[in-house]
Amino acid sequence: MAGPRIAVIGGDGIGPEVIEQAIRVADAALGREKASVTWNRLPWGSEFYKKHGNILPEDGWDTLAKHDAILFGAVGSPDVPEVVTVHGLLLPMRRKFDQYVNLRPAYLFEGVQSPLRDKAPGSIDMFVYRENTEGEYAPIGGRLYPGTPHEVATATAVFTRRGCERILRAGFEAARKRRKKLVSISKANALTHTLGLWDEAFGDVRKEYPDVESRMLLVDAAAMDFVRKPEVFDVVVASNLFGDILTDLSAMVTGSVGLASSANINPEKVFPSMFEPVHGSAPDIAGKGIANPLAAVLSVKLLLEHLNQAKAAAAVWSAVVKVLREGKVRTPDLGGSATTTQMGDAVLAAL
Ligand code: NAD
Ligand code: IPM
Ligand code: MN
Repeated sequence: MAGPRIAVIGGDGIGPEVIEQAIRVADAALGREKASVTWNRLPWGSEFYKKHGNILPEDGWDTLAKHDAILFGAVGSPDVPEVVTVHGLLLPMRRKFDQYVNLRPAYLFEGVQSPLRDKAPGSIDMFVYRENTEGEYAPIGGRLYPGTPHEVATATAVFTRRGCERILRAGFEAARKRRKKLVSISKANALTHTLGLWDEAFGDVRKEYPDVESRMLLVDAAAMDFVRKPEVFDVVVASNLFGDILTDLSAMVTGSVGLASSANINPEKVFPSMFEPVHGSAPDIAGKGIANPLAAVLSVKLLLEHLNQAKAAAAVWSAVVKVLREGKVRTPDLGGSATTTQMGDAVLAAL
């Protein structure tokens, strides 16, 4: 196998289960185009940590940097602290590789029942652009007087002019290629300093895009409108924490978190970008073989687009559309009883 080298970290729980289906689908879609990629499976995650005392080897970051992209499942185990998993692998990866654009599409497929039952297929179709390297997730803070009754905890949100502008610009560029509508998520009414800077950056950047219809919306009102009238959204740009929360919501109004894909992009391509489902390791269903692999499959579709394999990506999308429309194979999150592998088989057959 030749072609781009992709590092694969299945991780924990359902991560490896859904990623294997995504790889099968990608290989088939690329095969049709007489193209291929090399998958380099790295056994990093909670089990690795239990054996070696580290979630990844000492030279792990250098290893990852030598790849063209990264396909990621999820990390997180009930018996391993989140500081080891989430803060040892996932969050540092987004920052170290400057993957400042976190693209999270939400699309209502034909054959999938939104909890908002009267919405037509395709009527919900949004791209959330989540800031991925700073904001509320900046690991700055600490504890004072730990273990005492007067213990104090602080965490400082970090918003930079550059950080706000570059994610807003990425959103505007995407809006230009879509329906030319953009909503910038704020909360400057309460968080005057940080989101105040965000709003000012939005005010400046939007001047560069007069062809895009743009507006500000407070995050609480946005949460309401994601349910009340999700069809009005095209591109939504949000800070790190707001984007995290709103995309579990956008996943549910389009049927299931088992359909929600994501791309962690370093647009300058100095570092590898990383592709992962929005969902986590789902310990409650891990090992049962019933996780919906389509979030991982649709993340691989974003990976193929990133590799300029537009045709293979479109084929994956069409195959997923067909499987969902027919509705014969459904995992439990979609109201059926199909297994992870059966869903993978169905997508392959549709390809
Ligand atoms: P989760 O996303 O793992 O699960 C939430 C709910 O959604 C569960 O009921 C689960 O069964 C269901 N679900 C998730 N993915 C599904 C799929 N593909 N098919 C069917 N159902 C699915 O969130 P959680 O339970 O809050 O977190 C579990 C662990 O995962 C934690 O350690 C958390 O930190 C971690 N996490 C990791 C990532 C990541 O690595 N990208 C993302 C989110 C959460
Ligand atoms: C996500 C996850 C992560 C986040 C967690 C695991 C830290 O919820 O990718 O949406 O909050 O970014
Ligand atoms: Mn999340």
